[in-house]
Parts: sequence; C-alpha cells; structure tokens
Amino acid sequence: MARTAIQGTGYYVPDRIVTNHELATLMDTSDEWIQERTGIQERRWVEPGMTGSEMARRACVMALDEAGIEAGEVDAIVLATLSPDHFFPGTGVFLQRDLGLTGIPALDIRAQCSGFVYGLSVADAWIRAGQFRTILLVGVEIQSTGLDLSDRGRDMAVLFGDGAGAAVLQATADEERGVLSTHIHAQGEHAEVLWADASSSSRHPRISAEDLAEGRHYPRMVGKEVFKHAVSRMPEVVFEALEANGLTAADIDLLIPHQANLRISQMVQRRLDLPDEKVFNNIQRYGNTTAATIPIALAEAVRDGRLRSGDLLCLTAFGSGFTWGSALVRW
Ligand SMILES: CC(C)(COP(=O)(O)OP(=O)(O)OC[C@H]1O[C@@H](n2cnc3c(N)ncnc32)[C@H](O)[C@@H]1OP(=O)(O)O)[C@@H](O)C(=O)NCCC(=O)NCCS
Repeated sequence: MARTAIQGTGYYVPDRIVTNHELATLMDTSDEWIQERTGIQERRWVEPGMTGSEMARRACVMALDEAGIEAGEVDAIVLATLSPDHFFPGTGVFLQRDLGLTGIPALDIRAQCSGFVYGLSVADAWIRAGQFRTILLVGVEIQSTGLDLSDRGRDMAVLFGDGAGAAVLQATADEERGVLSTHIHAQGEHAEVLWADASSSSRHPRISAEDLAEGRHYPRMVGKEVFKHAVSRMPEVVFEALEANGLTAADIDLLIPHQANLRISQMVQRRLDLPDEKVFNNIQRYGNTTAATIPIALAEAVRDGRLRSGDLLCLTAFGSGFTWGSALVRW
C-alpha cells in the first residue's frame, strides 16, 4: 500500500503587522496582559481586497515550487478553514480556479483549529487507497474581518490572526518515510463553548439587526474551558498515536502543536516531557491562525532546518467543536 509523503510546504502571511500596542489603542487591553497570558506579541491582518483563496494560492505556489511539482499534477484539493470566502461554495473551488485547475475535486473541511490534521487524515486515506496520487492540503484563515474590536470582544480579538499554509502530499512507495498514522476526535457537547452563533441557517432570518447589536455574529468563547480541554486532549491524542505505532514521546524529534496560546503549548510540551529544541512555536509572531497554524509552522520549521530526513514529526491540534487530533510523520 502507498504511503503519503509531504513533498513540499509553503505559507503566506499578510504584510500588515498588528502589535499588542496597536490593539491597546482599540480596546481596553495591554501588551503585558496579552504576552503574559498568551505569549503573543503581534499578528498579521489582511488589507481590504485580500481573500482567503488568494492567500491559499500563494501558500500553494510556494509548496508546489518546493516539491518541484507542476500545479497540473495535482489530483485533489483539501482545504481547511472556518472563515470561508463565502457561505458557499467552499473556498477550495476558488483556489482551484485561481491555480488554473479544472475538474479535480476540491473539498472544504470544517473542523476549525483541527482542520489541517482532519484534512491530512482524509488526504492520507485517499492516497493509501490509491484514489489520488498528489493532493494539495491547505489551511487558511482570515480572522481579522470577524473580530469584535470593542472591549466586549477583547478576550478573542487579541488571540487571532490571518494567514495560510499548504503542503503537497504525494504517494510514495518508500516505506521508510511518510504519514505513519492520524487520529481524530470530536466532542459536540462543547460546541457552544467556542463558536459563532450568527449568521446561520438555524436563525430566522439568518442575521437580524438585533443579532448585530448584540454582537452574535462575533466569535465567542469560554476561555478557561477551552484552555482546560486543550491541555489534556492534545497530549492524550499524541500518546494515542505513539502507542498505535509502538513509539514513545522520547522518539519525537519535532512537535508542532496547534498555536492557540503559548501557555497551552508549554503545558503540552511538559506533559510529553520534551525539551525546547523539540517543539516549534511561532504564535509570538502570528497569533492563532486557526486551521493555518500547523501548516505555517511546518513550512517555517522546514525553512529553519528543523527537520532532517528520518525525523519523527508529531502534529497535534485542538479547537472549536470540540475537535482534536494528531499525526505522526516520518520525515
Ligand atoms: C483567553 C485567555 C487568554 C484568558 O485568560 P484567563 O486567564 O482565562 O482570563 P479570564 O478569561 O479569566 O479573564 C481574566 C480577566 O482578564 C480580562 N480580560 C480578558 N481579555 C482581556 C484582554 N484582552 N486584555 C485585558 N484583560 C482581559 C477579563 O475580563 C477578566 O477580567 P475580570 O477578572 O475583571 O473579570 C485564556 O482563557 C485562553 O487562552 N484560553 C484558551 C483560548 C484558546 O486557545 N482559544 C482558541 C482555541 S483553538
């Protein structure tokens, strides 16, 4: 059976840097509060005119270039986002069109911060089954256009940023490398702990003047609940993956955790007993870019020379849903 190898990585973040100090001019917050609670120093926000599909395209072009693969060789697109360009159709078809492709399937994944790991699970299954040989897997998010920048929304607004990351996945016969396994989970009983209520098809009308006045179109979160579940679910699902492969945490060469909050990543690191050099974090510069955090971090880790052939890479994510997952990849 074919294995799935990651042949190329790429990312794109907007030029506009928004510091904690700038946010403190918009709402009642401070650089000190944000850094102490989250580790975030700055994030990127798109300028008007930039879309998720365009950021995704730029990340894909970089990933295809690194892989040495022409866009025309791509057999399928899997794109994870919670902030699609439009309610429908999915962002994947806009990306497909902008890459000059036609006919190949384009699947949007809705698993929020776990979207890239969920997407990897789907793409890996397609490749193992022999259905597709080359797949573009993308995580992209524009959070900045949906944040409540008043004091009411400050707990959420300081966390999130915009960006895109991509990976070119390809079938390989090389049994020494590739995706070893993926493990994905969800627990819908916590759906409203981190969510956006409106605009939605369950409301009549989908959005009203009252919804707007009450801020129901903004994301809302019970931060402490999210924190508590994130720090237990991510180590749990990493141990599940290690056990399934007869490995231990000491075998991990690089852990890329979802970049939700540096304090969460540090607790995950401690539970896995990993030294600093085995963990990659970039939330300090980008904030939480939701489905894009893992592929952006992966692309940066590759460019920093943090992965060598044969290394064991571990990805883990947790997010709204709740959803969570892990992947082990022999680089
Ligand atoms: C959001 C988070 C940093 C808040 O930290 P916390 O220690 O839980 O803080 P609390 O929510 O208890 O708020 C503490 C105080 O800070 C205030 N506060 C909230 N956001 C603030 C901000 N941006 N600036 C200043 N003060 C803020 C609160 O109003 C509260 O004030 P009060 O004590 O007067 O009521 C933290 O809960 C967290 O990171 N949770 C996980 C979020 C996450 O990762 N979400 C995405 C998952 S994929």
